[in-house]
Amino acid sequence: MPAEPSPAPDIIAIDGPAASGKSSTAKAVASALGYAHLDSGALYRGVTLVAIQECGAVSGAPLDAGALLRAAEAKRLELRFDGSAFSVMLEGRPVGIRIREAEVTHLVSAVSALPQVRTWVTDRLRALGQGARPLVVDGRDIGTVVFPGARLKIFLTASPRTRAARRLVQRGEGATTGRVETEAALLAARDAADAGRPVAPLRMADDAVALDGTELSFEEQVAEIVRLARK
Ligand code: CDP
Repeated sequence: MPAEPSPAPDIIAIDGPAASGKSSTAKAVASALGYAHLDSGALYRGVTLVAIQECGAVSGAPLDAGALLRAAEAKRLELRFDGSAFSVMLEGRPVGIRIREAEVTHLVSAVSALPQVRTWVTDRLRALGQGARPLVVDGRDIGTVVFPGARLKIFLTASPRTRAARRLVQRGEGATTGRVETEAALLAARDAADAGRPVAPLRMADDAVALDGTELSFEEQVAEIVRLARK
């Protein structure tokens, strides 16, 4: 008897621009559905942290993709499942909030635009998608490149000011008008870099459902995706 073909992995993809709430939404959707949450941006941030710490990478200077991936492997950069989600690990320990620091955020779009880095990350994400575990994966190119066969694809957006204000609150900073403007400009620069790169740019998949969260509460946003997933 020929072996049964393995069933297609059950994957929900949530893509969208910076600070659109993808990760927190993906986490809550995964928890409601009993799926595992996989934050692909966290792995790009992990590579960027290694680039800064091990290779002295700085904004504006050329990056050597080969060298920084060798450093990532030497430092055993990986995503490890902790029972409900995947955490970024370096040398066997969780990297925690270091990957969210401003230095990493400023450099991550340049690092993630390197084709070799994208291949390295995409291979790891796909390997995790091969397991029997159903996943909610969030990022920029999940529905277009990493898992084009995902059974549900969401493209989550919100107005630049809403995204900026939410990111400031998330970091515990007050969302004053001046700060919102500055943060919105930083997010816009990252979006432009992510959407303008030649390999796997940020864009909505043709078969994705667009969801604008500007006027929705977090709970409404999560409930809508869960409803679509259960349909
Ligand atoms: O949470 P936030 O929206 O700030 O970003 P993130 O999801 O942590 O992703 C950080 C960066 O990683 C993005 O700005 C992209 O440059 C890159 N990224 C990517 O290129 N492809 C993905 N699938 C996920 C993230």
